[in-house]
Amino acid sequence: MSSSKNSGLRVKELEVAYKSGELALGRVDFTLPEHGIYTILGPSGSGKSTLLRAVSGLLPEYRGELLFNGQPLRGQDVLIGLVPQNYGLLPWKTVKANIRVAMKIANPKEQERRAREEQIDRWLTAMGIPELGERYPLSMSGGQQQRVAIARAFAIAPSILLLDEPFSALDVMTREALQQLFLEHWRANPTTALFVTHDVDEAILLGQKVIVLPSNKSEAPEMIDNEAVFGLDHAEKRASDAFFAQMKRIRKVMQEKW
Ligand SMILES: Nc1ncnc2c1ncn2[C@@H]1O[C@H](COP(=O)(O)OP(=O)(O)OP(=O)(O)O)[C@@H](O)[C@H]1O
Ligand SMILES: [Mg+2]
Repeated sequence: MSSSKNSGLRVKELEVAYKSGELALGRVDFTLPEHGIYTILGPSGSGKSTLLRAVSGLLPEYRGELLFNGQPLRGQDVLIGLVPQNYGLLPWKTVKANIRVAMKIANPKEQERRAREEQIDRWLTAMGIPELGERYPLSMSGGQQQRVAIARAFAIAPSILLLDEPFSALDVMTREALQQLFLEHWRANPTTALFVTHDVDEAILLGQKVIVLPSNKSEAPEMIDNEAVFGLDHAEKRASDAFFAQMKRIRKVMQEKW
């Protein structure tokens, strides 16, 4: 890990407007350290997906700057993984083929076939869906598709990982299991990550900081330090005083800004 103070993802005065001129994302400004993870909370329409799209390179136009390790993100050979809100799977390809294609695009230098297939199996197993490899996305539940999308994102081992409400279609138990799994894998394979959620618990469980976007786009987002919870053992977070204090704090911000 680089210790330079320029390291990580710098989102500098980023603002996005669509052609109508209306703001899709009000100004945001933060630095996510390399191998750090921030969660983003905000009401529907506040620009959460827009922020991820801008970072991922899907938006041709935005104001402000995006830097990675001190250099413009665009034009750098930085691998970015996006788990989009609608999973982003190719419906005409099987689960395994979806992951395979992404790996080939991410790493065009001939990777040994067997190594690649082992990786695919490994991530499907890690996500608890080893038996779904030959299925097609549209024959699966939303939660199963989400797990494929997450397996695919981890399989390409991106430098920057962007997740757009990746657990929203899961029931509570599965969701909690996957939150834990996700953190374990993130710790074992650290990547610079932005995680969008509309779930306050999830934001507190998974982020070193929580960025709360306001509904009024002329107001600045709230940046809430969350190390007091993030540093705890995952299993102990929910029952901790620190978690409860954050919950109160964030709910207050939401009452004022949503
Ligand atoms: N292609 C587009 N053209 C015009 N406006 C758009 C476009 N995409 C999004 N918007 C607008 O930008 C704003 C932010 O949308 P965005 O999808 O980023 O919100 P969000 O916070 O992700 O919401 P949700 O929680 O519902 O997913 C919304 O007002 C939306 O209508
Ligand atoms: Mg969205």
